[in-house]
Amino acid sequence: MGVFDSGLGGLTVARALLNALPNERIVYLGDTARVPYGTRSAQTVVRYARGCSEILLERGVKGIVVACNTVSAVAIEILRAELDLPIIGVIEPGARAALAAVRALPALPEKLPKIGVLGTTGTIASGAYPRAVGQLSTRYEVVALPAPLLVPLTEEGWIEGEVPRLIVRRYLEPLIAAGASVVVLGCTHFPLLKNIIAEVAAELAGHPVPIVDSAEATAAVVAEWIADERLAPSLGEHTPAARLELLVTDLPASFSVVASRFLGADASHVTQVDLNAK
Ligand code: DGL
Repeated sequence: MGVFDSGLGGLTVARALLNALPNERIVYLGDTARVPYGTRSAQTVVRYARGCSEILLERGVKGIVVACNTVSAVAIEILRAELDLPIIGVIEPGARAALAAVRALPALPEKLPKIGVLGTTGTIASGAYPRAVGQLSTRYEVVALPAPLLVPLTEEGWIEGEVPRLIVRRYLEPLIAAGASVVVLGCTHFPLLKNIIAEVAAELAGHPVPIVDSAEATAAVVAEWIADERLAPSLGEHTPAARLELLVTDLPASFSVVASRFLGADASHVTQVDLNAK
């Protein structure tokens, strides 16, 4: 399977895929030369997404997981129309997971809980989350707010301590004040800050707030597709070391440091690929 994101964030999805699909080989591409995507126009994101897909296609992947909410929000239909292989995004699985979380809350007779979403500026401006939730249920209101600074914070590996906590608080305050009862991490970089987000949301709300991460829900969709299409490699076809190939478009060394920390496994082999005119 091919998996791509603007940088490190999609590793949250790659990790869930490695757990859900023990025999599958994953080729992961982080477009570190052009991160962040979330502050760019839809047109630019489409162009970047085409380039990433091309690199993965050259490596012979059987499907592509768009491990990026921004690309899933603005470019996925274009990729699906242009490319002759299955393309799986993170927003629809994330919307399903959000509904499951909100439905699991204790029922309050006087009001329905709201679904809070934090994402990049591009994802929030696209309205993709309210749309995806609305296609599944019209009962719940979605409050979606941009939290763009969380992307460079995680790319820097700054995922603990006072600075991320203050920034997370600044973004969560209006979301909790608007009545969000669950918080959807609508950017694949944000699960790297999940502990801080959960702690600050609970402080602000005065009780624990469910935090929804689309990585596992996305991995479950991929696993179902592979099973339905009987595409699973035979047992032991790939040795554990060969199961994850890491590609970046710039600075492989610094990617490797944060990736190893995050994956909890060796990520020292990172190959830099050439974007050319992609
Ligand atoms: N991790 C990506 C997302 O889910 C992109 C973040 C960015 O590059 O701004 O939206």
